[in-house]
Amino acid sequence: MIKKFVKKFKVSEQVIPKAISEILAIINSPSAIILLEGDLGSGKTTFVKYFVEYFDLNDNVTSPTFTIQNIYGANIFHYDIYQIGLNDFIKLGLFEMFSEKGYHLVEWANIDLATMLKRYGFDFFHIKIIANQDTNYRIYQVSNEWQI
Ligand SMILES: Nc1ncnc2c1ncn2[C@@H]1O[C@H](COP(=O)(O)OP(=O)(O)OP(=O)(O)O)[C@@H](O)[C@H]1O
Ligand SMILES: [Mg+2]
Repeated sequence: MIKKFVKKFKVSEQVIPKAISEILAIINSPSAIILLEGDLGSGKTTFVKYFVEYFDLNDNVTSPTFTIQNIYGANIFHYDIYQIGLNDFIKLGLFEMFSEKGYHLVEWANIDLATMLKRYGFDFFHIKIIANQDTNYRIYQVSNEWQI
């Protein structure tokens, strides 16, 4: 049993790259599922954008709202389940994609997806992005379990 941890980062836009390098050090693997949770406009797509930049990819990061899945470089997968919902996400076979080597970043992940991942033996990281009104920074709360 791996010990559960929760680590908090206070992140203004300028220090997102630093936060990403620290988060990657925590993840410590070339393959991981990263569940991004946060209110509308909290910074989920922005996180993915800097994540992709961290790997020196110039790919244009956009929310895969209608495309459902974007792939950057060879091994960064970006999903958004806001529009499609978990059931259709599974029906379209996207859940199977998580077996692919690389980083899988999921916007609008939820506890149902987390539960299903666990049931099928996938480890994941949950990043809760907390935005306060009136502040120009976010709190990234990173854990290896779903945080209620
Ligand atoms: N760490 C941060 N500090 C300050 N501002 C940020 C940070 N991350 C993102 N932002 C700002 O928040 C706004 C919304 O970001 P973004 O589009 O990434 O949110 P989102 O969570 O993907 O939204 P949606 O719910 O529509 O998918 C942008 O203007 C972005 O510059
Ligand atoms: Mg988004």
